[in-house]
Amino acid sequence: MIGIMVMNLFMKTISESLFDTLFEAAKGASGNAYAPYSRFPVGAALLADSGDIYIGCNVENASFGLTNCAERAAIFSAVADGCGPGDFQTLVIYTPGDVSHPPCGACRQVLSEFLSAESVVYSVSEFGKTRKWTMAELLPDSFILPEKERV
Ligand code: THU
Repeated sequence: MIGIMVMNLFMKTISESLFDTLFEAAKGASGNAYAPYSRFPVGAALLADSGDIYIGCNVENASFGLTNCAERAAIFSAVADGCGPGDFQTLVIYTPGDVSHPPCGACRQVLSEFLSAESVVYSVSEFGKTRKWTMAELLPDSFILPEKERV
């Protein structure tokens, strides 16, 4: 209990109304998912510090490995609009069914480059309860290039 309270102190959580807005955006995006193979439509809503919300959905392909997840789609959309690392507050993921799913490993690595360690990622399922993690909890030791390798 104390552990959870301390953890929440370090979590940059958002207001209920902002959460509701992001939830609706993520749910709406899942409705646009292209998921004919898994039939598992995922939506994501990414809140930038500017207040802009970027949405993403999974886009599958007959060559299964080319599938792109909702979370990365949201990041890519934000980058295309001029955002970069450190420009984001939080991410809300929406999945169908009764289990809240955390982002996959590939998405955690990509998210970790753009969200800060204290940023909160929420996952909401259609019928289940909401789960949340800080970016640091999702991926404590992300891959980063040494400074000298960066351009
Ligand atoms: N998927 C996501 O969109 N995000 C994740 O973090 C995990 C999985 C998608 C990929 C695929 O289209 C479907 O869910 C089933 O794996």
